[in-house]
Parts: sequence; C-alpha cells; structure tokens
Amino acid sequence: MRKKIVAGNWKMNKDYDESKNLVTKLLNSCKPGKAEVIIAPPFINLLSSIKILEDSLIKVAAQNMHYADSGAYTGEISGSMLKSIGVEYVILGHSERRAYFNETDELLSKKVDAALSNGMRIIFCFGEELNDRKSGIENSVVKSQIENALFHLPSSSWDEIVLAYEPVWAIGTGETASPEQAQDMHAFIRSTISSAFSQDLANSVPILYGGSVKSSNAKEIFSKPDVDGGLIGGASLDADHFGMIVNAIQ
Ligand code: PGA
Repeated sequence: MRKKIVAGNWKMNKDYDESKNLVTKLLNSCKPGKAEVIIAPPFINLLSSIKILEDSLIKVAAQNMHYADSGAYTGEISGSMLKSIGVEYVILGHSERRAYFNETDELLSKKVDAALSNGMRIIFCFGEELNDRKSGIENSVVKSQIENALFHLPSSSWDEIVLAYEPVWAIGTGETASPEQAQDMHAFIRSTISSAFSQDLANSVPILYGGSVKSSNAKEIFSKPDVDGGLIGGASLDADHFGMIVNAIQ
C-alpha cells in the first residue's frame, strides 16, 4: 500500500524560539499513525527541530537546497550540509521558488540529482497557474514539469520521490481545488508515470495535494483514491490545526 504523508511547509515563518515552541507542541498534537508526518522549517531551525523530534516519528525537511555540494555560492546551502545534520527530505520545485527565484525545470533537475546523490528524499512540487487552467492546458503543463525534472531518473530512484501537486491558484489564496479536480489531476499524473515507467511504479509513488488545505476540507480531499496526503502551508503553523489535518488521513 502507498504511504500516506502530511507535510508542513512553514515557508519563511517562525524565528528560533517560536520554532522550538511549535515543534514541541507538535509532539503532542501530531501522533503519526496512518500518515507519515514531515515538517519543513526554515534552514536556521532545522537542527533544533531535529533534536526536539529525535525520539519521535516526525521527520524534517528542508525547503530548498543548492545543486552543488560546496563552492563559491554565497548564501546557499547544499544537500551534503543538510544531510550532515540529519535532514531526511528536501522540498524542491515549490511554485514560490519557481516564481520569485526563477527556478526552471532544468535547474530543478540538477537539484533532484544532487538531493538523491546525497541520500535525501524529495518532495517534488509542481502545478499549473490559473491562466493555464482557464486555457485548459493544465494537464500538459503539469506533465512537462514532471517530465523535465524527473523522467531522466532510473526507476529505482523513484522510491525516494514524493510528488506534490499544488495548483498555483490555490496556494495561500483560500481557494482549494475541489476534491474532484485534485483526484482528476492525480489520476492523470499516475497514468503519465505509468506510461513512462510502469503501472507498479506509478501505483507506488505518493502524490500529495497542496493549496489551502485546512482542517475543514482535509478529510474530503484526502478521501480521494489518488490523493495520498497533503503539503500544508499556512495551516501547518498552528500545532492543533496541523494535528487535525494529520488526523484527517484515514
Ligand atoms: P497553503 O500553502 O496551504 O498556505 O496554501 C501550500 C504550499 O505552498 O505548500
């Protein structure tokens, strides 16, 4: 059976003390049971989070990384640095990185390779913009995003990949894709992977939905057969709220 996952993307929120406070509260509010729970705090809070979560099942992800292992890249953090403090996952391809930091499919493909060569698992994000959906090209946009960054990988690497479909028009807007829209896209993604690799591989890849998931809508979205959990932004910043979303996984 496919793994269910609920991941919290904190984005650029929570200073050091606030972060320790939230992580400590998560120990009580988020009991990983049916779902694997992952949190992605800002870089400076990764190590303290890992220490607090040491004896728990909650995993820690970085929100980004550079593709080189070291070198003259002022202000950047590498996969090997993340690995050295025990970070297991990295989020790559988030729409905010694509939009504000010009991350292209080509760059993301290099980051994917670097993360895998450092033994990290990847939460790979992609999704169409509102205009794409209005023009009816959402499937082809999504297909090319995953093809360009991931389809060069050998089948064996897909064990380390979690996909996160995040329609840009639903992120931080309060507007969620309907459970049917999410299901349709997730089924399309699975069939695309099946054609390129195999049905078995497609069936084994977790596909999360992200975009304004809250405790009030999580259960309905997560109930769809091809939706294997969520990537949660705003609602992951409150321990109780995030805990309720984790519990919405059946
Ligand atoms: P949101 O963000 O839940 O605040 O819409 C989701 C994301 O960007 O991963």
